[in-house]
Parts: sequence; C-alpha cells; structure tokens
Amino acid sequence: MSTLETIERLAERGGADTLQEAVEVLHDEVDHYSWVGIYLVEGDELVLGPWRGPNATEHVRIPVGQGVCGAAAATGETEIVDDVNADPRYLACFPSTRSEIVVPIAHDGRVVGEIDIDSDRPAAFGAEDRELLERVAVLLAPFCH
Ligand code: SME
Repeated sequence: MSTLETIERLAERGGADTLQEAVEVLHDEVDHYSWVGIYLVEGDELVLGPWRGPNATEHVRIPVGQGVCGAAAATGETEIVDDVNADPRYLACFPSTRSEIVVPIAHDGRVVGEIDIDSDRPAAFGAEDRELLERVAVLLAPFCH
C-alpha cells in the first residue's frame, strides 16, 4: 500500500489519534522525512501538535508570520526551502536539518494547521512531496479544527 493509501485508510477510520498516526506513517515510510510535525493554528499562533523524529523542537509556539512555518500559515501556500541556512526566515530546530517543506492544512478557506517536515538532505523536497503532502493535508483537515 502506498503512503497516501495508508493515510487515506487512517482518515476514513478516524479517531483521536489520526494526526499522530499520520505523522508516524510519513516519518517511518519516507526515507528523507527526518522530522515530521503538525502545527495547529490557535488565534495568531501555531502550536505544535503530534510529531515524530529523533529530537523534540523548542519551537512549540510560532507566531503566524514568523519562520518558514509562519510564512506558510500567513499565505496558505506550500513553502519549500532547499537550503535552510540560506533562508533568513528559517527558525533553526535541529543542527542536522538542511531542507524543509511546510504544507498548510485548510478548512473552509482558512488555514487551521500545517504539516512541517525537515530533512537532513539538502534540497530533499520536490513536486512529488508537494503532491503527496497537499493531498495528506486535505485528508487531515477534518482532524485539525
Ligand atoms: N524551521 C521552522 C520551525 C519549526 S522546526 O523546523 C520543527 C521554521 O522556520 O518555521
């Protein structure tokens, strides 16, 4: 079963652990996803929800508009950063991170959360990741508000 199909099944089944299960599937099945987290919008902040990776991040609350995460939440557009060290917006979490993708999760035209993935590989994220994760974001939207 593909990663997308696995997450489709999780979303169909539903339940309190759906977001946690989805981050675990993404992290465990896709080799270049080094750290996977979901932030949920609370007022004008992003609050870290379920995550899976080797280390916890200190960025558990990020104001909308700050960092790569805050930029994606402000615009509602996916952000792909090929070299995090060259992006002045980047809020550093892990010394090993080289690239990042942030995919907003929208519900009723409003950003309610986002999927944030760090990779230890430079320029790890491309069109396939964007397509997979934007579809996952649609599946997870009902569990984010
Ligand atoms: N790098 C993010 C912060 C979150 S950590 O990657 C987990 C940013 O620049 O917004």
